[in-house]
Amino acid sequence: MKILNFGSCNLDYVYTLDHIVAPGETESTDSFDLFPGGKGLNQSIAAAKAGAKVYHAGCLGRDGEPLREIMTQGGVDLSYLRNVDLPNGHAVIQVSRKGENSIFLFAGSNNAVTEAQVDAVLENFSEGDFLLLQNEINLVPYLVKKGHEKGMQIVLNPSPFNEKIAEIDFSCLSYLILNEVEAREISEGSDPDECLGILGKRYPSLKVVLTLGTRGCRYRDGNESLYHPAFRVSAVDTTAAGDTFTGYFLAALADGLSPSEGLRRASAASALAVSRMGAAPSIPYKEEVLAALPDLKPLREHTDPMEEKRKLILDYLESNLKDASLEGLADRLGYSPAYTGNYVKTCCSLPFSKLLQKVRCSVAAKLLAETSESVEEIIYRVGYQNESFFRKVFRERYGVTPLAYRKKMRGDLS
Ligand code: RIB
Repeated sequence: MKILNFGSCNLDYVYTLDHIVAPGETESTDSFDLFPGGKGLNQSIAAAKAGAKVYHAGCLGRDGEPLREIMTQGGVDLSYLRNVDLPNGHAVIQVSRKGENSIFLFAGSNNAVTEAQVDAVLENFSEGDFLLLQNEINLVPYLVKKGHEKGMQIVLNPSPFNEKIAEIDFSCLSYLILNEVEAREISEGSDPDECLGILGKRYPSLKVVLTLGTRGCRYRDGNESLYHPAFRVSAVDTTAAGDTFTGYFLAALADGLSPSEGLRRASAASALAVSRMGAAPSIPYKEEVLAALPDLKPLREHTDPMEEKRKLILDYLESNLKDASLEGLADRLGYSPAYTGNYVKTCCSLPFSKLLQKVRCSVAAKLLAETSESVEEIIYRVGYQNESFFRKVFRERYGVTPLAYRKKMRGDLS
């Protein structure tokens, strides 16, 4: 499958300062660099360095020729890049000593894409090919529509987020790769789980990759939910970390690798990128990423967010022993019942009905050991209508009848 990235190319004017300049403040610096950049260019180079065949389409301005050279060196195919008689797009980037950045953009050549250009370029691609897009060129909604009509798999990185994103038909997308701020804006959810839940409900066939900075990343589709921690590196410049992630993740998919391996490689590649200055120049080659992976250490202080969800699921079951249902749990989590069923399996390694049985049996076992309630009362309290069914399930799980269990526990305690 081919990858077509229709995206921006920027000249990045990068200034390193003690801190990001606040409104009304003036700072001076001796540290200035001119780097190749632009989310489009960065993501094309990242996917190409990750080993994918990438075609970059878009517009290059009068002063953008050095960018052509950089992309060619990075292994990107530029057959569909058009020269326009406009100043090239550029970014003014402040980088603080802590490695944080602040960016403003001049669109220039990046806003010169025409419908005729889009139609002509898309002629060269077919069903199943990937169309990668960001929000730094004009005509993104048109590209989404036309790519979808051709049956291409559209991968959107809605970055930078602005009001133009609302014009895009998200039901045409196959993949959405976004950060937490973008996820909140698009879904109107508050935390990552809620955002993923809302997006999953709204667009059931959409595959979502949510990057959470030092808290790692999440992946979610209709069947599975994955988490990968961030790797520990010392940050020098976070510019293009997200672009590196996107390019690497997409290259992994195009190579037929699993989303889980995609997250692993993308996390490693972006960790290496933040340990180096600049946008495109900081993006590592696949060989560097594969060589670094065995030594990269996850940021352990951030635990698997699924652990929290697991607790929520168990809390729900324990406090609704009699009338717990998949629909009730789905409501509590903000997911669809179908997604909730899969989520329970992924999180707790059991289907919903078996998990409910397990929770009921363990509450019953506790009551048998710690109270003198009759077995019949306990069976009723934990939500079983059918006494013999409970006895069978209990025996399978604990190897003895409820009464024998009580005796054994009391004997052990006495
Ligand atoms: O994502 C980083 C990029 O954003 C920079 O290279 C800059 O050009 C801006 O587009």
